Amino acid sequence: MSQIASLPQRQPESLSRSLVRTPELSIVVPTFKESGNVGVLVQRLDAALEGQAWEAIFVDDDSPDGTSDAVKAIAALDPRVRCLRRVSRRGLAGACIEGMLSSSAPYVAVMDADLQHDENLLPRMLAKLKSGDTDVVVGSRYVAGGNAHSFSKSRGLMSRAAGSLARLWTHVELSDPMSGFFMMRRDRFDPLARSLSTQGFKILLDIILSAKGTLRIVEEPYVFGSRTYGESKLDAQVGLDFLGLLLTKLTGGAVTPRFLSYALVGTAGLGVHLFALRTALGFGWAFPPSQAMATLVAMTGNYLLNNSLTFRDKRLTGLAFMKGLLGFYLVSSVGALTNVGVASWLYAYEPVWWLAGLAGALMGVVWNYSMSTLLVWRAK
Ligand code: GDD
Ligand code: MN
Repeated sequence: MSQIASLPQRQPESLSRSLVRTPELSIVVPTFKESGNVGVLVQRLDAALEGQAWEAIFVDDDSPDGTSDAVKAIAALDPRVRCLRRVSRRGLAGACIEGMLSSSAPYVAVMDADLQHDENLLPRMLAKLKSGDTDVVVGSRYVAGGNAHSFSKSRGLMSRAAGSLARLWTHVELSDPMSGFFMMRRDRFDPLARSLSTQGFKILLDIILSAKGTLRIVEEPYVFGSRTYGESKLDAQVGLDFLGLLLTKLTGGAVTPRFLSYALVGTAGLGVHLFALRTALGFGWAFPPSQAMATLVAMTGNYLLNNSLTFRDKRLTGLAFMKGLLGFYLVSSVGALTNVGVASWLYAYEPVWWLAGLAGALMGVVWNYSMSTLLVWRAK
C-alpha cells in the first residue's frame, strides 16, 4: 500500500479548514512585456476585491522584460498570485485559455494587465454570476455608462467596425463583442475549451460562437482607461486573425485561417510565377527552361512566405530551413501531379476546361496544404 493511501482519512471540513481559503474567483491576466504594470494591478485587485476569496493567474509568454520574474517576486509573498510562464509560444487567446484551464474556482475572469480595464467592475460582475441567472458578464465600453475615450480615432473606428462585423455575421447581440474583459462560470467554460482558437485577440467572441447560443450573457459598462507603461500589441496580424476566426466559425471549421493564408500565398505565387516566366522569355530563353525556372522561383517564394506568415509559429531556421525547402519542393511537385491528374480525369468525363482546371487546382492546394502541415512544418 502506498504511503498516501495509508494516511488517516480526514474529514472534508477539517481538510478545508486546514488550508488557505480556496479561491472563489480566478482572475486570468495574460501578459506580454508588462513588468511595470503587474505590481500596481495586484494592489488594485487587493483593494477592489476586499473580503473576497480571489486569486490572480498571470500567464506570461516569456516576456523579454522580465514580467514573469516580477510576478513571481509578488507570488513569493502573496499566495493569491501565481505565474504561468509559457515558453516558445505566443498568443493572447491561448494564454487566456491555459490560464482559465488551470483554475479550479467556480468563477473565472479575464482582464488585461495594463490597467485599462476597471478592476472596480469585478465585484459587480461576480455578484451577477452568483445570482445564478447569468453565465457570462462582459465589461463593455459601448453601453450606456461605458466608453473608450482613451482610444485614438482610428483605433476606436476599428474596434467598432470589428464589433459591427461580428454582430452582422454571427448574430451575436452584444455591443462590445471584442471586449477583452469578462467573467464567466467555469463550468460553462471548461466544455468549450477544445473548440477555441489559440490565435489572436478575440477570445470572448470565440467562446460565445463556440457555445452556439447556449450562454446567458449580460453587459456591464466601464470606462476604458489609458495605458501608462508599455505599449499595445494589437497590430495588423491581430486584425487578420480576427477575420480568420469569423471565417472558420462561419464555415463550421472547414476553412481555417492557416489554410486561407496558405491559399493566399499560393495565389501570390501565381503572380510571381508569371512575372518570372515573362522575365526569362524577355531574356530570350526558350519556353521550357523558362517555365521550369519560373516554377522553381514561385515554389521558393511560396516557401519563404509560408515560413514567415502561414507557419510563423513553427518558423524553420538554419538547417531545418534548408531541409524544409527541399521537402516543400517535393510536396509541391507531387501536388502539381495530383492537380494535373485530377483535372485530366475530370476533363475526360466532362470537357469543361475551367471546371476541370479549378477542381485540379483545388485538389493541388488541399494536397500541398495537408502535406506541408504534416511533413514540412510539423509540430515541434
Ligand atoms: N501572454 C500573452 N501573450 N499576453 C499577451 C499577448 C501574447 O501574445 N499579446 C498581448 N498580451 C496581453 C498584454 O500584455 C495585455 O495585458 C493584454 O494582453 C491586452 O493586450 P494589449 O496589447 O494591451 O491590447 P489592447 O489594449 O490594444 O486591446 C484591448 O482591446 C481589444 C479590443 O479592441 C484589449 O482589451 C484586448 O483584449 C481587446 O480584444
Ligand atoms: Mn491594452
